[in-house]
Amino acid sequence: MICVSKKKSYLKSQNLKIVGQGKLNGFVEISGAKNSALVLLAASLLTNEKIVLQNVPHLTDIEKMGNILKNLGVNLKEKNNTLEIDSKNISIKELPNELVNGLRASFFCIGPLLSKFGEAKVPMPGGCNIGSRPIDEHIDGLKALGAEILIEKGIVKANIKSKKSRLIGTHIKLKCPSVGATETLIMAASLAEGRTTIENAAREPEVQDLCQMLNKMGAKIYDSGKEKIIIDGVNKLGGCIHKVIPDRIEAGTFLIAAAATSSSITISPVIPNHLEAVTNKLRKSGSKITIKGNSITINPRELKAVNINTAPFPGFPTDLQAPFTALMTIANGESKITETIFENRMNHVHLLNKMGANIKLDKNVAFIKGVKTIKGMDLIASDLRSSAALIIAGITAKGSSRIYGLEHLDRGYENFETKLKILGIKITRNLNKKTVTNKEFKTSSDPADIPRCKAA
Ligand code: UD1
Repeated sequence: MICVSKKKSYLKSQNLKIVGQGKLNGFVEISGAKNSALVLLAASLLTNEKIVLQNVPHLTDIEKMGNILKNLGVNLKEKNNTLEIDSKNISIKELPNELVNGLRASFFCIGPLLSKFGEAKVPMPGGCNIGSRPIDEHIDGLKALGAEILIEKGIVKANIKSKKSRLIGTHIKLKCPSVGATETLIMAASLAEGRTTIENAAREPEVQDLCQMLNKMGAKIYDSGKEKIIIDGVNKLGGCIHKVIPDRIEAGTFLIAAAATSSSITISPVIPNHLEAVTNKLRKSGSKITIKGNSITINPRELKAVNINTAPFPGFPTDLQAPFTALMTIANGESKITETIFENRMNHVHLLNKMGANIKLDKNVAFIKGVKTIKGMDLIASDLRSSAALIIAGITAKGSSRIYGLEHLDRGYENFETKLKILGIKITRNLNKKTVTNKEFKTSSDPADIPRCKAA
């Protein structure tokens, strides 16, 4: 569906060639948020009426989610960035392993399938390159709502215990404000009988976007964006037209790229308060930030080192930690970057060091001494946000770089290199005849890096 289908091996054989020491200049249009679009696609399973989802980004993650929905029996039509989703003929309540294929967001389907049909079978999403990513909060919450859950051979099998085949509203207190668990439980509770309260809920804009769409569909959800969300279950949900919010992570990535290259750019559309933690840090590190309506302009000044602690919203987003680390490698002074959300999200650090950065890593804390310049290299990115970090590093570096591992980049950044090209960066996507593996990749990765590349 959505994007021109690219097989994984095809993506793996590609690289981006970047000519370093580039400058960005002009305007960049921000796409719809990947993390919103994914959960909104799952939420469309909750109704028999048509959902029109606008501003859906063309990404491989979205393509995978669309294919999962189609496999359940959903009729999906795509035109440009708009999807028409018709879930009235769902016949299957089981997600096949082969389609899930590493897409964690596929697990979102458990909430809607369970609360609408009383049953769901969804493969365990498992860990990924940035951490083990457990799902205990999703499972415990669904059990509290009255689901019976059995995990067998990697499949989560959920059924409703009550005779009425409905989940029953309850009080749930999350141990950590998990974005995914909050979203799973909101979707499940929206068709439950009675009131559900979720305490210590995630407050991320994508959770708020989900609640807005569900309320348009007839749900009764109060206080999204607060720590305690209240959901009064309804019997049925209807159709709606909904526009996905702008991607705050993509927006932040472009602002960071501009700061790293002493460039002036304007990004739009954005919801500026979604980016407050990021724009505050950019201001502290020397950039001038001007907010006008739904656009943000950044103007460069001397780049100073600042410390970052990632935190749940409204804190500094973990998804921008890697790009910000790349920025700090060339800042004036010393900075400390602390990753508090995921246990394995520092995969970019040793690669930035290869480029000439001076970073000491102590578990999840990176101590960075800013250097004047880093040098271009050929490198393999190992997760989505570290691929953006390496591209930013490549743009700022002296000499040229080739960045591999674009299957990660294409999961989450719509037309990234095209947007950079329009802003003035010399960047080209090249195709290799064969897939490059870590083992074969000798240019800049020494053998000691191979296990790290795999783990990452
Ligand atoms: C979502 C985003 C991801 C972002 C992350 C944190 C999507 C599709 N992905 O991921 O881009 O980086 O939020 O902002 O929206 N945890 C548990 N038990 C659970 C669930 C989570 O212990 O059942 C822990 C995780 O291990 C992690 C922390 O909670 O340490 C945050 O994870 P969570 O907010 O759930 O992230 P995701 O929803 O997976």
